[in-house]
Amino acid sequence: MKICLIGSGYVGLVTGACFSDVGHQVICVDNNATKVQQLQAGHIPIYEPGLEALVKKNVAEGRLRFTVSIEDGVDQSQVIFIAVPTPPQPDGSVDLRFIEGVAREIAAVMKSYKIVVDKSTVPVQTGEKVAETISRYNKAKVDFDVVSNPEFLREGSAIGDLMNPDRIVIGVNNERPVAAMKEVYEPFKAPIIVTDINSAELIKHAANSFLALKISYINALSIICEMAGADVEQVADGMGADKRIGRQFLNAGLGYGGSCFPKDLSAFIHIADELGYEFDLLKEVEKINCLQKERFIKKIRETLWILTDKKIGVLGLSFKPNTDDIRSSAAIEVVQALIKEGAKISVYDPKAMAKTREILPNLNYCENPYDVADGSEALIILTEWDEFRSLDIGRIKNLMVNPIILDGRNIFSPKVMESAGFIYKSIGR
Ligand code: UDX
Repeated sequence: MKICLIGSGYVGLVTGACFSDVGHQVICVDNNATKVQQLQAGHIPIYEPGLEALVKKNVAEGRLRFTVSIEDGVDQSQVIFIAVPTPPQPDGSVDLRFIEGVAREIAAVMKSYKIVVDKSTVPVQTGEKVAETISRYNKAKVDFDVVSNPEFLREGSAIGDLMNPDRIVIGVNNERPVAAMKEVYEPFKAPIIVTDINSAELIKHAANSFLALKISYINALSIICEMAGADVEQVADGMGADKRIGRQFLNAGLGYGGSCFPKDLSAFIHIADELGYEFDLLKEVEKINCLQKERFIKKIRETLWILTDKKIGVLGLSFKPNTDDIRSSAAIEVVQALIKEGAKISVYDPKAMAKTREILPNLNYCENPYDVADGSEALIILTEWDEFRSLDIGRIKNLMVNPIILDGRNIFSPKVMESAGFIYKSIGR
């Protein structure tokens, strides 16, 4: 298939790379000329395992190209995916100006029948608006179909998620684009669920909000476990063994962050509100998520008392492991709270230090976890990178002023840490 991806951000780029790798002819469009030049030269602006190699391979084999011209992309493709950002506005609603802008540009250059697919996460009923916009601005009145095809990939495992999805959701309002969409996804061997457009749009917000709800549920339980002297990990294992519940997304910790969950939850609350339903359940999910960070900071304060001028070591900055993304990272929020209280912070993260330096230039950035531990009064774990799980704990202890670890991601066993001589505090156990 000849495919165009408009927007070469996280979703557009990974999707474009995977589509080309299964044999489609792909053009990725982006309005940022510098980015397009970098991508043409094989430079990937984000860290995502396997992405650079995949892009280089498919560019070299002639299936993947980059351009700044929407016209070029639209002319040469049957299916056009919109994968531009849908950022939050201050009131939590979604800013759809990039979607509208792209719909207008497609309309202006479209000369023959096209399938226009929305891959960006958008509020329900956006497809209707996109169709209306294209009709209005396509003076030649060329035929087209709008499809909703939400993306469920996770950062850090994006390529695997895209290549082996649990399901592919295709939202259509008539049969005409279904065969072409099935052809696009045929190489991925995943179940295809065909729905109407509004339902497809809702599925994305509903799925992300449900996953966030699962995390907040276990985080609320972690508070009860601490109060009752139970262990949240054991509770999660016991609950998760029920196939109807499942063990995934029951890891208690500092709460969810990243570019999707926080934004999608507030968007969904806003969408429901506009439709006339007050989604209090999701408001509570958000409240619990904030509370986790507040409780952890309180725990640090209770353990160390005065934080002013204390040297504190921090491990982890990204919102989760295997990414350099620090957007809405719980780790960054905790670090900012510690800075506010006057702590002197040394920090290490395998991938996210460059991005953190742009917003927090005055931290002491270290080359490894041992340099962070050296002379620290406490070590604080904020992201569960595998690298931290296999630390030489004895060496860490000898380097620290006080053997205190506060673990916001439950990566160590309390028994092991206590018998190694640490004061070890984690979440919900
Ligand atoms: C999420 C969805 O999973 C994905 O389907 C969608 O397309 C985009 O949003 P992502 O934001 O990349 O993906 O990360 P995910 O792995 O879902 O984690 C989100 C947040 O939840 C992270 O901050 C993570 O640390 C946290 N989390 C996850 C927990 O706190 N506990 C868990 O058990 C799982």
